Amino acid sequence: MKKKLIAGNWKMNGSLAANEALLKSVLAGVGQAECQVAVCVPAVYLAQCQALLADSIVSLGAQDVSSHEGGAYTGEIAPAMLKEFGLRYVIVGHSERRQYHLESDEVVASKAQRALACGITPIVCVGETLAEREAGKTEEVVKRQLAAVIAINGHCISEVVVAYEPVWAIGTGLSATAEQAQQVHAVLRAQLKAATPSADRIKLLYGGSMNASNAASLLAQPDIDGGLIGGAALKAQDFLTIIAAAA
Ligand code: 13P
Repeated sequence: MKKKLIAGNWKMNGSLAANEALLKSVLAGVGQAECQVAVCVPAVYLAQCQALLADSIVSLGAQDVSSHEGGAYTGEIAPAMLKEFGLRYVIVGHSERRQYHLESDEVVASKAQRALACGITPIVCVGETLAEREAGKTEEVVKRQLAAVIAINGHCISEVVVAYEPVWAIGTGLSATAEQAQQVHAVLRAQLKAATPSADRIKLLYGGSMNASNAASLLAQPDIDGGLIGGAALKAQDFLTIIAAAA
């Protein structure tokens, strides 16, 4: 059976001291987790977290990557630079980047492509806003976002992780219900099946106010293969409870 993936997205949180305390607590409690575990940390802390996670079962990830290979792009970080820190994952197309940095579907797709070319697994985020959901456009929006990634990545699409993160559920405490999430995951799975014979092994994560209380029911859905966790990933005990729910 496919192992689930529980990935923390720390967003713009942390400090040298806080990161060390958090990761030490997570490592003390994680044991031989039955699922895959990752933390996606702010880029400036990659070296620190790489050292703290050395020889552990917790993988390291970043939260963004440039769509360019290198050169005159002030402030950007190339995928090859991330790879030097032993990265396994990078989040691309998080709704906060689409919203605040105006990242288009095409830019997100080329970030995923650049990551794959460096041997880093992109966690591609898709999701609708509240207005889009209320207008009955959820399916149309997530399919459009995923289609751009499928179009540019061809058969490599089987190497990505997809995270469905309804924007209205992020950081609001208002998670999608397990049924709502499963419904969208089934749509995404069907779209991936039309693109690759390996669609069943692609991990589809749910993100948006997943926490210690609702994780088990979300993770029990047939097309939910893990979680992308924001706020709850900053509390070791909550993160460990979610990891245990995914076992
Ligand atoms: P919250 O878990 O804080 O809602 O954040 C979800 C998220 O955006 C993960 O990428």
